[in-house]
Amino acid sequence: MQQLAFFEPAKDEAIPQERRSSTTFLDNMALPVHRWFRYSAGFSALWAHDVLEAERAKGRTRVFDPFAGSGTTLLEAEKAGVLAIGAEAHPFVARIARAKLLWREPPQEFLKYGLRVLKIAKSMGPPEVKPSGLLEKCFPPHTLRLLEAIKVAWEECAEGGPLSELSWLALISILRSCSPVGTAQWQYVLPSKSKARALAPFEAFEEKVRGMAYDMARCQQRKNGAQARLYPRDVREASGLPENWADLVITSPPYVNNYDYADATRLEMTFMGEIEGWGDLQDAVRVHLVRSCTQHVASLSAMTEDLIGHPRLCPIRDSLRRVCSSLSVERERHGGRKPYDALVAAYFLDMAKVWDTLRRVASPGALVCFVVGDSAPYGVHVPVERWLGELAVSAGFSAWRFEKTRDRNIRWKNRKHRVPLQEGRLWVKG
Ligand SMILES: C[S@@+](CC[C@H](N)C(=O)[O-])C[C@H]1O[C@@H](n2cnc3c(N)ncnc32)[C@H](O)[C@@H]1O
Repeated sequence: MQQLAFFEPAKDEAIPQERRSSTTFLDNMALPVHRWFRYSAGFSALWAHDVLEAERAKGRTRVFDPFAGSGTTLLEAEKAGVLAIGAEAHPFVARIARAKLLWREPPQEFLKYGLRVLKIAKSMGPPEVKPSGLLEKCFPPHTLRLLEAIKVAWEECAEGGPLSELSWLALISILRSCSPVGTAQWQYVLPSKSKARALAPFEAFEEKVRGMAYDMARCQQRKNGAQARLYPRDVREASGLPENWADLVITSPPYVNNYDYADATRLEMTFMGEIEGWGDLQDAVRVHLVRSCTQHVASLSAMTEDLIGHPRLCPIRDSLRRVCSSLSVERERHGGRKPYDALVAAYFLDMAKVWDTLRRVASPGALVCFVVGDSAPYGVHVPVERWLGELAVSAGFSAWRFEKTRDRNIRWKNRKHRVPLQEGRLWVKG
């Protein structure tokens, strides 16, 4: 049988050495498999790779990523020959990571499967689309009908196996590039902004499937370690995770910066019919996540003192209480009256539980690396790295240190406050 031609993506691993310390996801869009879904919350695969290699040379061979996101650490660990497990509590994001971990499937079979989905989509009359405010704002009617045709065709073929999961990923990853409006994840969806170029759905899907098959074939040619395992779990609870397993933890937790991870996939979840609108995100996603945005704590604004009084927050209680008091004063002076006081208390309580989980999953003497940034809601500085370090020690780790990698907010572009912020790595040992 004639081999089906793959599509070779234009850019590939051409990232200069000096950019390898970057902690942003952007460079991953030039890397096989990482580029299958643009997860703006992700960190740099090359940086994760360098840490994995350096630690493997020192004898660390089992890594855990408790906030695995789209699977960056796990994929790099497979490549570096380091055993890896991860947890991700956002159900949709966990499915993306699991689909990416299927890159070992036969590329030709996947290509055939994807092209069959496309053939069925092309052969059907454009289906009727159930009206939805968000989808109508993001896509012209014709584009939406073509995307819907691919979805219906995918549903016809889907049997839950690896090839249908890979095709699911191909479909959800083209949605934003087929939309002519602003759909960058960090800014959520901006219907009033327009993009220079929107892709045509059938062509975009074919290109995506061919590109994925190309990456699969390429990665299968290299030497690889064991397959990583992703647990779709809330890492505040350790149940079901192996104990004393990891000698290395590499991760980037949610920052307490009001970014709503649930909203970041609203477009994709709405299109796939998993939610009807914004209101469904609370039960479908947010309840599973560390409380890092005010939508999480809307009902907790009167509970700040109870949260601060939780025994697990004892090591940071006095300074936490001072920051929360300032935040509750500031709240009265701002129009939005956001409950940042409750948010900060809830965030650190959740992160204390995460450290307890990490203490159980990590073996004695393990090394932990958190990519973190501090924050200053309403201009009140929250010393994130120090409090996280102190909570780690109270969970049973022996020591922490912070390595700054960059300043943030120093050019005062943020007009809401003028507090200098920093980003870097929190290293915890023990
Ligand atoms: C900064 S992102 C990590 C991204 C990842 N490094 C990557 O490259 O894709 C933080 C992730 O933590 C997840 N998360 C939040 N709360 C969680 C929890 N309680 N348990 C597990 N994962 C959680 C979020 O859904 C998000 O994907």
